[in-house]
Amino acid sequence: MIRDLIVRNRSYRRFYQEVDINLEALRELVDLARLSASGGNVQPLKYILSWQPLRNSLIFSHLGWARYLVDWSGPREGERPSAYIIMLGDTEISRSFGCDHGIAAQSILLGATERGLGGCIIASINKEGLRKALEIPLQYEILLVLALGRPKEIAVIETVGPSGDIQYWRDSEGGHHVPKRPLDDIIIG
Ligand SMILES: Cc1cc2nc3c(=O)[nH]c(=O)nc-3n(C[C@H](O)[C@H](O)[C@H](O)COP(=O)(O)O)c2cc1C
Repeated sequence: MIRDLIVRNRSYRRFYQEVDINLEALRELVDLARLSASGGNVQPLKYILSWQPLRNSLIFSHLGWARYLVDWSGPREGERPSAYIIMLGDTEISRSFGCDHGIAAQSILLGATERGLGGCIIASINKEGLRKALEIPLQYEILLVLALGRPKEIAVIETVGPSGDIQYWRDSEGGHHVPKRPLDDIIIG
């Protein structure tokens, strides 16, 4: 079960934008993050939710997509995420956030996958632009944005070959291929 969920939980960057994700669904996904591990149980993460088209478009314009797909500047209108979860670190709770946001992001994305949704962790963010656009107080450090929607692309796991090339690529039908290192290469002792 968990293996199947993790295999299905690929990074998706094209979506059926017309499929809505409502506030209640986003709250349920953040609740999975709330229940996840946190260093020292400090729980410094806070979230901004977006499911409204206008707010979604404000967020979209501050994100960087798929750096290895050099001829592609991101999903076109109609294939953009239906919702976003902006992950913030509350500096009034802690000055550092360890790997809490990575764990929380994975919990949210696994929950999304279970619901037939998918998404992408985005760290390539114009943080100052996003802060201004959404009037995010300086108290909150912008950590990650999760783009969410019903995936409109197929993602296939490949094995990294002898060349060691880890760059993902698209085939002629638009399928997304993501190479993973073999198990025996990553267990070193
Ligand atoms: C911390 C982190 C930051 C990422 N930032 C971006 C990003 O800014 N833009 C993007 O398109 N994908 C981003 N990704 C997605 C990765 O490109 C993706 O995880 C990788 O290609 C492997 O594909 P997979 O998630 O399907 O296994 C990020 C992933 C992680 C874990």
